[in-house]
Amino acid sequence: MRRTHYCGELGLQQVGDEVVLNGWVHRRRDHGGVIFVDLRDRSGWVQLVFNPDRPEAFRVADTLRSEYVLEVRGRVVERAPELVNPKIPTGAVEVVPREVTVLAQAEPSPVPVAEEDEEVDEVVRLRYRYLDLRRPAMVERLALRHRVTQAIRRYLDDQGFWEVETPMLTRSTPEGARDFLVPSRVTPGRFYALPQSPQLFKQLLMVAGVDRYYQIARCFRDEDLRADRQPEFTQVDLEMSFPDPEDVMAVTEGLLGEALRSAGAPVPPYIPRLTWAEAMERFGSDKPDLRFALEIRDLSAAVADCSFGVFRTALERGGRVRGITAPGLAGATRRELEELTELATAAGAGGLAWLAFGPEGVRSPVAKFFTPEQLERLREGSRANSGDLLLLVADRDQVASPVLGRLRGELARRLELVPSDAMAFVWVTDFPLLEYDQEERRLVAMHHPFTAPREEDLARLETEPLAVRARAYDLVLNGVELGGGSIRIHRPDLQRRIFALIGMSPAEAADKFGFLLEAFRHGAPPHGGIALGLDRLVMLLGKAASIREVIAFPKTARGNCPLTEAPAVVSQAQLRELHLKLPEPGRRS
Ligand code: AMO
Ligand code: AMP
Repeated sequence: MRRTHYCGELGLQQVGDEVVLNGWVHRRRDHGGVIFVDLRDRSGWVQLVFNPDRPEAFRVADTLRSEYVLEVRGRVVERAPELVNPKIPTGAVEVVPREVTVLAQAEPSPVPVAEEDEEVDEVVRLRYRYLDLRRPAMVERLALRHRVTQAIRRYLDDQGFWEVETPMLTRSTPEGARDFLVPSRVTPGRFYALPQSPQLFKQLLMVAGVDRYYQIARCFRDEDLRADRQPEFTQVDLEMSFPDPEDVMAVTEGLLGEALRSAGAPVPPYIPRLTWAEAMERFGSDKPDLRFALEIRDLSAAVADCSFGVFRTALERGGRVRGITAPGLAGATRRELEELTELATAAGAGGLAWLAFGPEGVRSPVAKFFTPEQLERLREGSRANSGDLLLLVADRDQVASPVLGRLRGELARRLELVPSDAMAFVWVTDFPLLEYDQEERRLVAMHHPFTAPREEDLARLETEPLAVRARAYDLVLNGVELGGGSIRIHRPDLQRRIFALIGMSPAEAADKFGFLLEAFRHGAPPHGGIALGLDRLVMLLGKAASIREVIAFPKTARGNCPLTEAPAVVSQAQLRELHLKLPEPGRRS
């Protein structure tokens, strides 16, 4: 017998045909005298009907259990009108089997494959991932990821991008997370690093003249994990020679359009752009969620002459007083206000001031510091109406912007302002080239140290480094950073200046990235590119809660694989071979 159809393909067109199906027992129902079996493969399922008038098949049907693997030959028949199931694509037909073979039996499944709504502990799902992946929702996610990946590949091929693989066993790359290291057996005491991205190799490919490169690239970063972070993940990584940011953004929008179409999602007619400064000013985030408005407003002028010490001090120290208006939240309880204050202080604010505008006037612990006129100016400046709540933060922008950004997100959640099916893309451009790292007490590259500064800012690189803007761009979807890239530095002298600024000595630069600097001395074309997080894109397209839902075999939040039990203990012999010695158990190194 050879399979003629997938289960989910059957419909009225096949009525009367004899078909051969392969699949798993999804459900089995014994109606005393008639046995119904839903036979499932990755395309869906179809109902088999066993009657005692075909005793051979009926006897087999009697022994079937969930997840048995079958081969079935039978005839497709139309269901009586009252038996049609409009909820499934094959619901107009059923198959009357003539021959059934059990190809494999199955133990009772620890993951209820057919019970879509049943919550299953994630560790159990990951432990038995091959069963979890049989569940129709997971099949759909695998299929979605496949379609999206293929659409991207087709698009980039059409645009003249060559797919080139780059090494997994390499040296540390510059993304700035912790590396995963692989000890070398052949060269004692030396280690490979798994790539955090193909960044350096794709730049070398540009020097090599490849002109347009892409890769569906695996990347490895030893970071603390979150819903949208895994230790290994996949980027759609690309690089082009002689580009403007516009060229990279156009290619990205093109591939995104194809990805969205392949997922059946609407393609936005255009993607709005914000400079980094504007994103921070209006939304308090470099990855603003534009599915809702709730803009931050500068109210410094309205409170400039008030008698509230906290505000005056902040203004005198070069800070500002900015706020967000929460529509309809004037009736917030003490508890709710405390929670918002806690959120603000946890995000770094010294405190949170609030004013509730009502028909009978303003309710606020700080109202006494303001004249009626100043209160009216605040209300006007914040566009608050009667019934609205105004939240104010007074501080330097570096502190206040992220606080207001967090409050904005929290208010949107509480006010249910986030439309469930909206997709709001935005480009964030003109990032600062450098930022000050408080812990390391030095300048660090905001994207990575190969990112080019804007030409017109070059003159103040050494004098006002924090004011220098990068030729960098991030793509953001619904408040999630989907991708980031930049035009790169291709001149060795400029690269050396940047290394010096971030406190990297020429010796250290030569040691870490000498091969790239050397390549730049051999005719490097101007180049630039971007990398999109494929897992994040598919997660958002599939409306999944975490990237773990769209990765076939992900790690837990602690970085474990419950299926293979990696990371695992290795033998003393392996350690010896790798020239490694572990500290005695219980001894601290
Ligand atoms: P960057 O570090 O911004 O840039 O990474 C690009 C995109 O990769 C995704 N991403 C992740 N996804 C899942 N888990 C993670 N741990 C994780 N880390 C990053 C994000 C992110 O936007 N080489 C540069 C790109 C370039 O300059 O061309 C780079 O890797 O979606
Ligand atoms: P305090 O002077 O600390 O007792 O604070 C008086 C009020 O001002 C309280 O409601 C604080 O939450 C609020 N407040 C304190 N610091 C700030 C700040 N940086 N921005 C906004 N409000 C603040």
